Amino acid sequence: MKKLIVILVLSIVSCTNNISKKAVLTNKKIVIAHRGASGYLPEHTMEAKAMAYAMNPDYIEQDIVLSKDNIPIVIHDIHLESVTDVATKFPNKKRVDGRYYVIDFTLDELKQLNALERFNPKTNKAIYPNRFPLRKSIFKLHTLQQEIELIQGLNKSTGKNIGIYPEIKEPSFHLKEGKDISKIVLKVLKNYGYKTKNDNCILQCFDGNELKRIRNKLNSQLFLVQLMEFKKDEAKLEEISKYADGIGPWYKQIIKGKNKNGNWQISNLVTKAHALNLKVHAYTFRADELGDFKSFDELLNTVLFKANIDGVFTDFSDKVKAFVNKN
Ligand code: G3P
Ligand code: CA
Repeated sequence: MKKLIVILVLSIVSCTNNISKKAVLTNKKIVIAHRGASGYLPEHTMEAKAMAYAMNPDYIEQDIVLSKDNIPIVIHDIHLESVTDVATKFPNKKRVDGRYYVIDFTLDELKQLNALERFNPKTNKAIYPNRFPLRKSIFKLHTLQQEIELIQGLNKSTGKNIGIYPEIKEPSFHLKEGKDISKIVLKVLKNYGYKTKNDNCILQCFDGNELKRIRNKLNSQLFLVQLMEFKKDEAKLEEISKYADGIGPWYKQIIKGKNKNGNWQISNLVTKAHALNLKVHAYTFRADELGDFKSFDELLNTVLFKANIDGVFTDFSDKVKAFVNKN
């Protein structure tokens, strides 16, 4: 009888642990809302994040750049001119290279800008012409703190537990400008309870030296993902596995075109990463940018099931969730 009770207690504890285990620590295919619901609303706006939240992704992504007054801002580039009306609001604040840098603006100044659907400032044309119309409605930039409060607030009011997936942008540029972006971002994350792998936050960076520093010098216990873009990065997998928990490759590093029989060729990057216990979250999956794939489902099936990656960054979380749920 005593033995039975012990077994019962142990199985309840193990069951509770499984329920609380974060998606990233399981074998579930995870969906990351890339810049929010950026297929439908201007990227990295609060509206795009709220819409993404309603689509039930596992994580919502934040790219982070510092303002002049050291506030982490959620924006993809260190420059402002492709996603805001900075050129009309602050024409005199461009540098000699003709560009407007987030780091030259205080939070108060950044708040005066309107956030726009991404466009090419040379042609004034939208990058994705079938997405949210350029220069319509009013959107604003926001801070990392504001976005965390939105997601944590929605987690409270809905009872869901959606995570955050911040990216440290261009740490060496920030350092040249006298700013330690990683230290500042880690402090904000810590203040909001994101400290360990169980805290539903994944931290990503393209700069390997910086990610190593985040683990070894800044002593972060967060789940870390090493972003990569080039073939040469793949040779560093073993080294990456010593400080990171996953890799974030460009999906064309995994799908290498079709062979003569018309089948998609898959590289051994995922197998090699899994052998080193690294998760693979590839970027970026867009239903309106399919390349040689006949449909979004064919692309998703190839990466998620044939190549067996663990998660996808997508501008269309609704479509990926629908695909994952039916497969
Ligand atoms: O961070 C992963 C994914 O977002 C790819 O990079 O250029 O969109 O920040 P990027
Ligand atoms: Ca990113």
